[in-house]
Formats: sequence, structure tokens, C-alpha cells
Amino acid sequence: MALMLYDDTVLSGLKRFHNPSAAYTFANHTIRIKQNWKDLGVAAVVWDAAVVLCMYLEAGGINLQGRSVIELGAGTGLVGIVAALLGAEVTVTDREVALEFLKTNVHDNLPTDLLHKVSVKPLTWGKGLENFSTFDVIVGADIVYLEETFQDLLKTILHLSTENTVILLSCKLRYQRDNQFLDMMRQHFQVVQVLYDQNVDVHIFKALKICQREEL
Ligand SMILES: C[S@@+](CC[C@H](N)C(=O)[O-])C[C@H]1O[C@@H](n2cnc3c(N)ncnc32)[C@H](O)[C@@H]1O
Repeated sequence: MALMLYDDTVLSGLKRFHNPSAAYTFANHTIRIKQNWKDLGVAAVVWDAAVVLCMYLEAGGINLQGRSVIELGAGTGLVGIVAALLGAEVTVTDREVALEFLKTNVHDNLPTDLLHKVSVKPLTWGKGLENFSTFDVIVGADIVYLEETFQDLLKTILHLSTENTVILLSCKLRYQRDNQFLDMMRQHFQVVQVLYDQNVDVHIFKALKICQREEL
């Protein structure tokens, strides 16, 4: 049997997912995230795209003070937590199966005076959208990866946005099909890359709904 040599970064990435917790410092707060890869998989570990998006938000990529923000596919909720610490009113969402773990991480990491500004809600893309209104900002980290969800994810972003909504998608583009989602987005939104972190190969795209009036 041939010996396979793994790149150090791949190995350390895998080890990192098996750690029961991970700590970050953003917005002058230490955030301790519980992880549970073994039982809950992708929704219960922190992905590089989330960390890069938090760095972008902390650096003032957009002003979040007093703005309504929804996080899609939040996983552990790191991005939503940082958005709340930066002054936003945040709705943190994921599939029902990921919700209890998500709630624990969010509640454990927010100062009590901010808890009322954050709600954790189930949202499976494309389903129950009538329960949600529009938001000033939509954020998502590493949520573009399952081709079968692309139509529903797009439908969800369209439902949650107005022409004034800023959408920030932090993406690891692993496969060609991931670019297809960006092409689908471009049919309704102006999409620009605002950051590329080459250390972890993560792109942040900012999207704004194309104003229908312009098309008349
Ligand atoms: C790769 S993880 C990213 C988690 C987190 N945003 C991060 O970057 O650390 C993808 C997330 O998308 C969520 N997800 C996958 N399919 C979904 C769907 N159809 N509706 C809602 N969320 C979904 C998963 O539950 C998971 O939390």
C-alpha cells in the first residue's frame, strides 16, 4: 500500500474540527465556541469562512450598528455573535437539527445586556419563508457547497432582501459548481468580491439586489 503524505494544513484542519472547543477574540471579547464534529458534523465546527467574515466585520467592512442582520446556515453562530457584539440586532438561523447546539453557543457568548438583541430561529432554505421579513444585512459563511440547495438558498436570499440589503457571503470555492451559485446570484444581484484571504483560500462576496427600475 502506498504511503500518502498529507499537507500539514489539511491535517491541522482535521484535528481542529475534533477539538471540543475553539476560542477567538473579536470586538474585545473572548468567544469560546463548543464544537461537536462527531455527533453533529458540519454545523458544529467553526469553518475558516466564518473566521474570515468575522475579521472583515470587525475591521469595519460594513457598519452594523443598529442594523438588522440575519445569518444563514450559522452552524456554531460565531458570525452572528460577532455581529451582535458590533451593535447589530441579529437573527441567527440554521436547520432544526443544529438549533440546540447553536442556541447554547450563542447564549454562552453574549453579555446578558445583548441577549435581547439576538434570536435563534430554525430556517431551512426555501421553507417557511413567510415567517421572515426583510433585513438590512444578510450574512452567510461557507453555505455555498451543496448543489441541491442552490435554488432554495437563492430563493431565501431573494425573499429576505430589498434593494437596500447588503448580502455578504464568505465562501471557500471548493468545486466548479460553487461558482454556478454565484452566476445564479448575478441574475438578481450585483456581486463583487470585497476580500480574498489567500492563507485559507476564502473569498468574501458582497451582493446588492439589482434595482428593477434600472431595467425599465
Ligand atoms: C459548512 S457549514 C458552515 C457553518 C458556519 N456558517 C461556519 O462557517 O462555521 C454549513 C452550514 O449550512 C447549514 N445548512 C446546510 N444545508 C442547509 C439548508 N438546506 N438550510 C439551512 N441551512 C443549511 C448547515 O447546517 C451548516 O450549519
